[in-house]
Amino acid sequence: MILSVNPWLELGRTGAPGVNYAMGRSTGAAGMEGLVLSADPWQADWSGPESADDRRADEAGGESVQDGEAGGYHVSVMLDEVVAVLQPTPGRCFFDGTLGGGGHSEALLRAGATVIACDQDPEALAHARARLSRFGDRFTALHGNFSAMQAMLASVGVTQVDGIVLDLGVSSRQIDVAERGFSFQKDGPLDMRMNPGAPLSAATLVNEADEAELARIFWEYGEERASRRIARAIVEARAARRIERTLELARLVESVLPRGGAKHPATRVFQALRMAVNDEMLRLEEALGQTVGCLKPGGVLAIITFHSLEDRMVKQYLRRHSEKTIDRPEWPEARPNPERYFELLTKKPVAPSVSEQEANPRSRSAKLRAAIRV
Ligand SMILES: C[S@@+](CC[C@H](N)C(=O)[O-])C[C@H]1O[C@@H](n2cnc3c(N)ncnc32)[C@H](O)[C@@H]1O
Repeated sequence: MILSVNPWLELGRTGAPGVNYAMGRSTGAAGMEGLVLSADPWQADWSGPESADDRRADEAGGESVQDGEAGGYHVSVMLDEVVAVLQPTPGRCFFDGTLGGGGHSEALLRAGATVIACDQDPEALAHARARLSRFGDRFTALHGNFSAMQAMLASVGVTQVDGIVLDLGVSSRQIDVAERGFSFQKDGPLDMRMNPGAPLSAATLVNEADEAELARIFWEYGEERASRRIARAIVEARAARRIERTLELARLVESVLPRGGAKHPATRVFQALRMAVNDEMLRLEEALGQTVGCLKPGGVLAIITFHSLEDRMVKQYLRRHSEKTIDRPEWPEARPNPERYFELLTKKPVAPSVSEQEANPRSRSAKLRAAIRV
């Protein structure tokens, strides 16, 4: 499938062009129903003035949290836009690498497509399996990291799909449950693992990483200007007693960076720790490298990012692999790009509509980029 027109020109906010939402059955990936992997091979190591919604949005690194569909689990972002670029129809098969509450998968399934999905959070999988069980063998949910997408697809007998969607970051549910340790507003263990079976928790990092490493994490992943002062304060505090709770850390950061702006002072530190604990940038890089091999010619890659580091990585990857020619000062002329794998569907990232941003503050920092495998 090659889209001859830019779907954004046609995209209405209430529905996607050419997309049939009618429920339908198709010949799905046979034998995939109810597939549950008992082991966890993909985790091993393949590896103030603001509103409550705003604060919760900040906690998720710009992602907010609203009750809504999926029993308040998570409100999907840019659903219509994702469907418009992926163009699901009966017979087409998609990989959803961030299943979460199952909203994007559901939209694809409702259009008649087959979906193979993964999430590293077993709780999300359980929720989405229950929500989407009515689609029978058109829906397969796997526990794993999307950085192992090629191996996961192979495990269910699929080599290439018609589209891939990645909706990065954490779900509303993960932020809302204090015990998961993502929230600087709710007292819970300093955990932040999307996959509770992963070895590194935020508490381990906060209590065991050296000062320079902590400062690097806060600076690199949180763009926190007071990174070194905060790292110093942590090292001093933990010399007396381990820092085990989210609110302990939030108060410690507040003691270094008093409240003043619209955001809670711990916003960037929590985002940075979450990214480090879940190795988010590396996982994304690994996943991007596999998209080429996992997409059929004409297949579409759609990625929603929520902060500038992720978006930059996606933008640069897609640019590098969509430019027709490459040039170097020492060459007499530009040469064809031997690694041209994509054609951009979105020259600039697509933002959620104003009405979506109003209805769901979490969506405000979202950016969708999409490209077709050539
Ligand atoms: C923003 S939510 C996705 C919401 C989903 N698209 C929906 O419509 O309900 C992100 C989900 O992706 C999962 N996740 C994030 N990074 C992941 C990774 N590297 N591998 C697998 N799952 C990941 C999180 O556990 C979370 O459940």
